[in-house]
Amino acid sequence: MSSFSASGKLMIMGEHAVVYGYPSLVTAVSSRLYVSITPSTNSDVKIHTPQVKDSRFVQAALDVYKDKFKAKLTEMTLSTRSDFYTVNGFGSSAAVTVGTISALADYFKQDISKEDIFRLSYKAIQTVQGVGSGFDVASATYGGTLLFRQGGESIIPLNVPSGNMAFIVAYSGVKANTTEMVQMVKAKRDKESEKVNSLLRSIGELVVQAKEQIEKGEWESVGSLMNKNQEYLCELGVSTPQIDAMIQKALQSGAWGAKLSGAGGGDCIIAIAPVEKKNTVIGGIERAGGQIIDVTINERGVQKEQ
Ligand code: MEV
Repeated sequence: MSSFSASGKLMIMGEHAVVYGYPSLVTAVSSRLYVSITPSTNSDVKIHTPQVKDSRFVQAALDVYKDKFKAKLTEMTLSTRSDFYTVNGFGSSAAVTVGTISALADYFKQDISKEDIFRLSYKAIQTVQGVGSGFDVASATYGGTLLFRQGGESIIPLNVPSGNMAFIVAYSGVKANTTEMVQMVKAKRDKESEKVNSLLRSIGELVVQAKEQIEKGEWESVGSLMNKNQEYLCELGVSTPQIDAMIQKALQSGAWGAKLSGAGGGDCIIAIAPVEKKNTVIGGIERAGGQIIDVTINERGVQKEQ
């Protein structure tokens, strides 16, 4: 048996701009997705994914692995289990793909590097999704907090000091459609290229500043940069009234910064606040209809479980 788990992710800053070559900041969360492969008498691979609505990513990972290593994928059962199947925006597609590639390599005793896992998983995801920078795949693979560029052109791990900072995550109750949001930004960029290019470039600049502030543990400054990032995301048209209301309440309740995380149009917001304000901020977000998700950040990427 080979059993692996991969982390969910949250985009800290740089969504959408990352699709156009600018850097982004992503962190791995404590919610994990588990993939295990056991021998069986099936003639092919039996896929058992009760909590994953969409098994196309598992299938794509199997196909990519088979193609790359000329593996005979028979007489096995692949099962998944997820800590975060009720939450959208944590990157379950990336986590299940990374977990599947890793479990297959272990099952077949194939030597495989983290970089191979990232490349093969990204390839598999692209065959299903078509769009995507791969930041979620990098996060599920390497874990920690990363400065990431499109397609993994550069993946730089950050040193994140702990400090007087609470990281708060809340789900908006609405599932975002990443492909639609990415296409919407593209259409806007085609129409208003100067304005949108300038917004994307500005987001990229904020990300570079945020990396420095995170590594210094200057969380209040990180919060201000997140707020500026959120303004630009609003100008891009990817925020929603529900997300805006949750962010406003978080800030009114004492958060240093708050923004949407991911494609926008729904999914989660993230907020950072002084530890002593954590409960007040949580109360504020809940009053605006947000559902708090209890996770920690800067966690481990893919790892062997058994
Ligand atoms: C979606 O979570 C983040 C986007 O930047 C798309 C991507 O990077 O794949 C909008």
